[in-house]
Amino acid sequence: MSTIHTRLEDMRSAALAGGGAKRVDAQHNKGKLTARERLAVLFDPHTFREWDMFVEHDCHDFGMQDNRVPGDGVVIGYGQINGRLSFAFSQDFTVLGGSLSAAHARKICKLMDHAMKVKAPVIGINDSGGARIQEGVASLGGYADVFQRNIMASGVIPQISLIMGPCAGGAVYSPAMTDFIFMVRDTSYMFVTGPEVVKTVTHEEVTQEELGGAGTHTTKSSVADAAFDNDLEALLQVRRFLHFLPASNREPAPRRDTSDDPGRLIPALDSLIPDNANLPYDIRELVTRVCDEEDFFEVQADFAANIVIGLGRMNGETVGFVANQPMILAGCLDINASRKAARFVRFCDAFSIPIVTFVDVPGFLPGSAQEFGGIIKHGAKLLFAYGEATVPKITIITRKAYGGAYDVMSSKHLRGDVNYAYPTAEIAVMGPKGAVEIIFRADRNDPERIEARTSEYREKFANPFVAGRLGFIDDVIRPHSTRAHICRDLDMLRSKHVENPWKKHDNIPL
Ligand code: COA
Repeated sequence: MSTIHTRLEDMRSAALAGGGAKRVDAQHNKGKLTARERLAVLFDPHTFREWDMFVEHDCHDFGMQDNRVPGDGVVIGYGQINGRLSFAFSQDFTVLGGSLSAAHARKICKLMDHAMKVKAPVIGINDSGGARIQEGVASLGGYADVFQRNIMASGVIPQISLIMGPCAGGAVYSPAMTDFIFMVRDTSYMFVTGPEVVKTVTHEEVTQEELGGAGTHTTKSSVADAAFDNDLEALLQVRRFLHFLPASNREPAPRRDTSDDPGRLIPALDSLIPDNANLPYDIRELVTRVCDEEDFFEVQADFAANIVIGLGRMNGETVGFVANQPMILAGCLDINASRKAARFVRFCDAFSIPIVTFVDVPGFLPGSAQEFGGIIKHGAKLLFAYGEATVPKITIITRKAYGGAYDVMSSKHLRGDVNYAYPTAEIAVMGPKGAVEIIFRADRNDPERIEARTSEYREKFANPFVAGRLGFIDDVIRPHSTRAHICRDLDMLRSKHVENPWKKHDNIPL
């Protein structure tokens, strides 16, 4: 019996040693934590239970029979994060570069199958040289098995990816199908083909960082949702982020006790919006100030900054915020902003997270670049996402709501539940200047008449009362009472139940 115990301990030690001290040191020297150190930070202390520590690959080619490490380059298991059940896999770069063998993939699949059975989130920590080259197509098959599970789990349980090292080739497509991707600056990168191949094929010289670093993916490609300075910060922020999310699409998001009064008035908001409708202001200030304890987790902050998205809480309940940002492109909707917000709206709807929308939008961004890029289809994504969403939807028009963009931004017509306007709201087909130039073209050489027509138009349309008369907005509220109104309405909407007609799935313009 004691021999068995000794053998067990030896095998455990071998698994825990990973690729050995030298490779662990190399990992640390790059500023990276090891796979198990990462899990120790991610999970509540002493709650992580590891599975499949003794799994080994079964490859006999290229001398691989003598190159085996128990665990085969990935640590999987479950535990508590903020006291809630969560599953995670963490690739171990010290073992064969964290490369994905068939056995490695089977471990990830086993974990995902369990998470789906009990309906709890999966966090994937990616740090891998990609498909295990010695295994050939067996490892490619392993990736596809993981992909299929990502697809089946999408919209059922939250899936979060942390990129903490290389993630290249086929490896990128599993994170790409998860709900959110977080990266670490300078030590992580994602690309389909690396700099060497790029150089051979296109003669373009580009570094790893330029091609697929955190900067690229948070500002240019929008592949990643946020970037952090180091492993520790990234893991702690993922803990914070997960706290906003439900365990699955069958559970409500956890309520968090708050001492922040749901009726809290915010007098500073009354002077946030400048009198001059052409001056910008920071919509983030509005979003942050209304949240419980002013705690707002923004995602994709550095991409399409003309729209702000993220999670906060109102009276303890998780809420998704979408807000036009007048500081960037005057808050216009363009291709990138539409795509960014559409996916977020669909995420919130899939996981029963109410959506609060702040509208200050002068319209869609004009220009051939936008038209050639397909703004028609991309803009339709956001329209479609709002229209199909059945979660509680509260909309507040703070200033401009012009043209088709008025319709898109969670209007009453797209089943907005409660739609407000501030007294500064201007709800019209377009702004006074543009409108007068078109409908009173005959007066264009008469500045006095143009001035009179503009005042007339402003008087008629540049206010919230026409929409109010038609019932398209439910009330005109003062900014200081925004939080109080949202909290009360969310409470009223708690038992909302709306079902869309049965269909296999919709055909959202992609
Ligand atoms: N398959 C098998 N082993 C791999 C591997 C892979 N895909 N990627 C890395 N490894 C092994 C290396 O052989 C090395 O083993 P060793 O410690 O026994 O020497 C170890 O992992 C570390 O790799 P190394 O190249 O020394 O690390 P690095 O930090 O210098 O470079 C990469 C990291 C990812 C850039 C580099 O390993 C690489 O280019 N890997 C191949 C990527 C690829 O093309 N994958 C297939 C496409 S999906």
